[in-house]
Amino acid sequence: MPRTIHLDENEFPKSFYNILPDLPEKMAPYIDPKTKEPATPQQMSVLFPIELLKQETNFEDRYIPIPSELREIYLERLDRPRPLVRATNLEKHLKLPSDVKIYYKREDLSVCGSHKPNTAVAQAYYAQKEGVTGFATETGAGQWGSSLAYAGSLFGMDVEVFMVRCSYEQKPYRKVMMNLFGADVKASPSDTTNVGRKFLAEGKSTGSLGIAIAEAIERAVVTGKKYSLGSVLNFVCLHQTIIGQESIKQMQSVDDMPTHVVGCFGGGSNFAGIAFPFYELNKTKNAGIKLVAVEPETVPSLTKGKFEYDHGDSAGLTPLIKMYTLGKDFMPPSIYAGGLRYHGAAPSVSLMLQNGLMSASTVGDSQIASTAELFAKTEGIIPAPESTHAIAETVRLAQEAKKNGEAATILFNLSGHGLMDMAAYEKH
Ligand SMILES: Cc1ncc(COP(=O)(O)O)c(C=O)c1O
Repeated sequence: MPRTIHLDENEFPKSFYNILPDLPEKMAPYIDPKTKEPATPQQMSVLFPIELLKQETNFEDRYIPIPSELREIYLERLDRPRPLVRATNLEKHLKLPSDVKIYYKREDLSVCGSHKPNTAVAQAYYAQKEGVTGFATETGAGQWGSSLAYAGSLFGMDVEVFMVRCSYEQKPYRKVMMNLFGADVKASPSDTTNVGRKFLAEGKSTGSLGIAIAEAIERAVVTGKKYSLGSVLNFVCLHQTIIGQESIKQMQSVDDMPTHVVGCFGGGSNFAGIAFPFYELNKTKNAGIKLVAVEPETVPSLTKGKFEYDHGDSAGLTPLIKMYTLGKDFMPPSIYAGGLRYHGAAPSVSLMLQNGLMSASTVGDSQIASTAELFAKTEGIIPAPESTHAIAETVRLAQEAKKNGEAATILFNLSGHGLMDMAAYEKH
């Protein structure tokens, strides 16, 4: 069996898999914080392109065709389908018996180094079709901002990124990357929005994701641009399902199927991307595959959060979303994985957890550097600290199976590489 499993271009999915009709109950509507009524498409269309809003609330169609032009971009620009790899060296190092196997999906191979461009190019594609000329967005650690900046460069769209000021100062090369793709990057809070000036006047100059979101929303509303988000929402998870669909075909091509599918968890998009298509197999074919989301011990939205209505941002500007949340005012500690410091969770994933269709676990920050080192030494790839959470859980599951004398085939999503995270690894 080859170590690296490739897929022909013609096997790249023709549709996104829409989980909404397959969920056991209908997702609760988003609520307008002012009227306390369900937010209308008209209200939401100030922020988001119409086509994306249609996807957000499509409870009928299991498959949403990928337009041929967009499909071409996945193939030609994002170099999909992406390889899936059997982790032979890691298995050998862990001395696993032959019936305990590990596979991983290489989302680290994208232009910006993570899975985020999968939705960035789709969002930009649908937006430019509607005549949208630009996006405003926020970024914490910089992965999402880089991906949208890249997508903007493909479609000739303006992208303005409000980057949390402490990251802006700590991760200067992410800013350079965004600038090279043509995006305008501002440290947030900035003096270019009302909300930014207010926070600056209050002395909150290091910033937070909540403030950056508020600045991006204000900019989108004032300029007539659209606002873009890289996780949490249904349409974001939808676009990412190309990951899981490819993975199923790759596993089938080597006559194997996972018993466990593992993804790290920030807002939910890479987990959804790999896990949702396997959920479809569970639902339609009774496949019994365990779906596991892994979050940091110190940001336990799925494992310790409450399933209730909350804002998507800390400033309270977004509609209320029914999801697992630690509360919009939760202040996450500084950890390796900047991309996992989010108080909430995708509402679709929240509904799955609530209905016992998946499980969630946590990994402590102290395990991250040693696990990243183990993976680098065995598999030759430096993983993003976010993805390292999935690796640590995979190693734990494999060792548990070995100890119990059980067979297990674990597939995890390598959601990104850690080549821009050297400062964090060095510091720890
Ligand atoms: C490499 C990587 N993995 C995972 C995440 C977490 O986000 P999500 O849960 O939306 O996949 C991020 C977020 O920035 C990321 O950059």
